[in-house]
Amino acid sequence: MTAVGIDAMEIWTGKLQLDLPNTFAPVKGDDPEKYTKGLGLEKSSFPDVYEDIVTMGANAAKRLMDRKDLSPEDVGRIDVATESAFDHSKPVSTYIAGCLEQVYDGDFRHANKGERKFACVAGTQAIDDAYNWIKAGRNRDKAALVVATDTALYERGDPGEATQGAGAVALLIDEDPDVLELTGDQGYGSMDETDFLKPNQQFPSVDGKRSMQVYLARMREAWEDYESIAGKIEPDDFAYSPFHTPFPGMVRKAGLFAYRRLVRNTPVEDDLAETIGRQPREQDYEDRDAYEEAISEYMDELKATDLYQNWYAGTVEPTLELSRNVGNWYTGSVHIARASALRHAAEMDKDLAGEKLLVASYGSGAQAEIHSEVVVDGWREEIEALNIDEQLESRYDLTFDEYEQVHNVHDYDKDVEVEEFTAPDGEFVFTGWGRMNERKYEFAE
Ligand code: HMG
Repeated sequence: MTAVGIDAMEIWTGKLQLDLPNTFAPVKGDDPEKYTKGLGLEKSSFPDVYEDIVTMGANAAKRLMDRKDLSPEDVGRIDVATESAFDHSKPVSTYIAGCLEQVYDGDFRHANKGERKFACVAGTQAIDDAYNWIKAGRNRDKAALVVATDTALYERGDPGEATQGAGAVALLIDEDPDVLELTGDQGYGSMDETDFLKPNQQFPSVDGKRSMQVYLARMREAWEDYESIAGKIEPDDFAYSPFHTPFPGMVRKAGLFAYRRLVRNTPVEDDLAETIGRQPREQDYEDRDAYEEAISEYMDELKATDLYQNWYAGTVEPTLELSRNVGNWYTGSVHIARASALRHAAEMDKDLAGEKLLVASYGSGAQAEIHSEVVVDGWREEIEALNIDEQLESRYDLTFDEYEQVHNVHDYDKDVEVEEFTAPDGEFVFTGWGRMNERKYEFAE
């Protein structure tokens, strides 16, 4: 059977940054450590006034196409995952294809284009669609372009404001991939939930605390479903575990839950039992409350053990390096967590080919999906070709006042004129509205 998976990836960050501990916290009257230690965030990325979900997605896709020496005819499918779309009918993929057609010979006339929506999990769903399309033999030797692009902004004053971010990830899904082979092992946890939603509005309505509980509950269900087909998994089965990362503090909680599950009924639980006892089993307790209290005490002790801390430092912490400096990218978030892990492995000069990743995606509303991927030869070259560090370094550092101006620019309900903070350089830019209220784009040399 031909391997299908991620053949290349590119990342495009918004060109502005907001420093959370040094710029945001003082104005909000907060302790900077709430951001750095509590939420685990240093900076959020923001789009400049000429950037949006289309420019960021098209710029990531162009870098990917240039690097892989692709022309439009090599691409049979373009799926965009976003929850920041500005059009209820025309998909963002058509806008992105239109941008790319300005700079390449040929066109995407025969490519199937669409838009995937299910909050942040849509990026992973778009990869699934591409995988299924290729596995079904319907791709006519062409690859699929998946773009996850979002401006993850909240109402000013909403607690979610601290977790904002903006950027795009472009992924090429193809046969004989150069980065990761996708496996068929997959599990879902999905329920109708009202924790984070945007009913015909640009900024989300959020019940932040509840959204965190829903994230963990759906992840647990996806895990059970995954194990029901892949079998019991153990801590050392995976080199890295990239999670959907709305902010690193959320993944810190998810990591602890995951580890408790991973070690249950394994020799590691026996080792841990010598210091903190065995995990509470529900049947040993009178009622659910007593059991949950025991679990909570056990988790506090588990968190402090060397075994857990070493696993977390090796398997999860390296996935958070990019997120810490860009914030939540919604649909792109789990994909920058994966890129961050691979980037870490390359920096550590690890021999990763053949190792597995456990990828845990999540979207509010709500659905979690857990699947495994196998790293393949070629991964290092692909990851070393990313210029994300350079992009992060060159972001313009906003004052609080400038941040508020930029936030207004990206609020579709406000019509404000703000000068750009950076100069476009060989990239797609937003140039204004057309006669049918469509957004217009050009490539700025
Ligand atoms: P908040 O209420 O402002 O923050 O909002 P907090 O008071 O809960 O503090 C956050 C953490 O910092 C806590 O850590 C504090 O203890 C700690 P925890 O107890 O939870 O471990 N802290 C400090 N630590 C050190 N020194 C200090 C200090 N002060 C406080 N001085 C909240 C937090 C996440 C609710 C808010 O940011 C929010 O509403 N965010 C948006 C929703 C969200 O991100 N939810 C995550 C799960 S849902 C999801 O991931 C889906 C999503 O991506 C959307 C989609 O799928 O489309 C959001």
